[in-house]
Amino acid sequence: GAPVRVDISALQPGEKITVEWRGKPVWILRRTSEMLDSLAKTEPQVADPNSDRTQYPTPEYAKNQWRSIKKEYLVAVGICSHLGCSPTDKLQAGAQPSLPDDWTGGFLCPCHGSTFDLAGRVFKNKPAPDNLEVPPHMYLSDTTLLIG
Ligand code: FES
Repeated sequence: GAPVRVDISALQPGEKITVEWRGKPVWILRRTSEMLDSLAKTEPQVADPNSDRTQYPTPEYAKNQWRSIKKEYLVAVGICSHLGCSPTDKLQAGAQPSLPDDWTGGFLCPCHGSTFDLAGRVFKNKPAPDNLEVPPHMYLSDTTLLIG
């Protein structure tokens, strides 16, 4: 499939858009500073904080706490690494049985309850074997992203 060019100039802090790349949904989330702060909290709660697992190898440039090139923007494939369901946004805190007690936001897979933080890192003791895939991507400019 051809690379996909995405204009992110209109994306506001806290907003997420989905674009299609090779038939897969790719999420682009512009994280607020609170969302970025939450990643320090979830660090000890996730199964693979450094993205060392290899089912969906994380590109070198995204092997960091944010799993991204630019801290502010998460670019991730919105497909659960367990059996391929599509996790839903849980960007707000709020009591839900399948969420960690101190939920700071992230994604919840409705199929078997895997949860992911705002960097797409899977929480410990969940069925999903890997973090959400970070697709190959680069910035052509401050507001133009190229996926693929
Ligand atoms: Fe997501 Fe099973 S497909 S937890």
